[in-house]
Amino acid sequence: MAKLRVGILISGRGSNMAALIAAAHAPDYPAEIACVVSNVAAAAGVATARAAGIATAVIPHGDFPDRERFDRAVSAELEQHGVGLVALAGFLRIQSAWFPQRWAGRIINIHPSLLPAFPGLRVQQQAIDAGVRVSGCTVHFVTPELDAGPIIAQAAVPVLAGDTADTLAARILRQEHRLYPRVVRWLAEGRIALSEGKVEVAGLAADATLLFSPEP
Ligand code: GRF
Repeated sequence: MAKLRVGILISGRGSNMAALIAAAHAPDYPAEIACVVSNVAAAAGVATARAAGIATAVIPHGDFPDRERFDRAVSAELEQHGVGLVALAGFLRIQSAWFPQRWAGRIINIHPSLLPAFPGLRVQQQAIDAGVRVSGCTVHFVTPELDAGPIIAQAAVPVLAGDTADTLAARILRQEHRLYPRVVRWLAEGRIALSEGKVEVAGLAADATLLFSPEP
């Protein structure tokens, strides 16, 4: 069966992108990374993608008069590479409503909190300030409303006494790197159904341990 072609959008470090690239190296992985697009030329992830031999495009948002025209350029790039799934991975550009509508049901994001708690930015600090004992990461479909699309999967980590935003971010990031490739696999295997704003994952029982990942 043809592999699902994934386009990854990044703005920075690209460690989730790297986790997807690494997963896709396995011969039996049902998705392949068709291209990486960054709005930031200096993003470290761009160099990582190039070194991995992935087709890479830099589309600076400042070159466009408005968000939608930037979004249309990104979309055209993805189409050129035959992309069937868009994975946002630290893409720090809020999109116009046009983009998530264009890719509806075929665009996902990873966010470093247990949504709907702590949308937006600086979310690890938000979690620490709120005094929560558990945080984690969420993979969700992208809709025009920021960080509010249907949730596909989550992984939890404890928030420990003495945690800083950085130590918590590092603990969450380890789970992001496990979760995102797994969700892309589920999508590529056609196991994810979206109905009335809720996601069902077929055969989730076998993957249940992924959802709870407490570290001592
Ligand atoms: C991750 O924490 C992700 O959840 C958030 O942005 C960060 C990107 O990190 N959306 P990286 O670029 O994948 O290393």
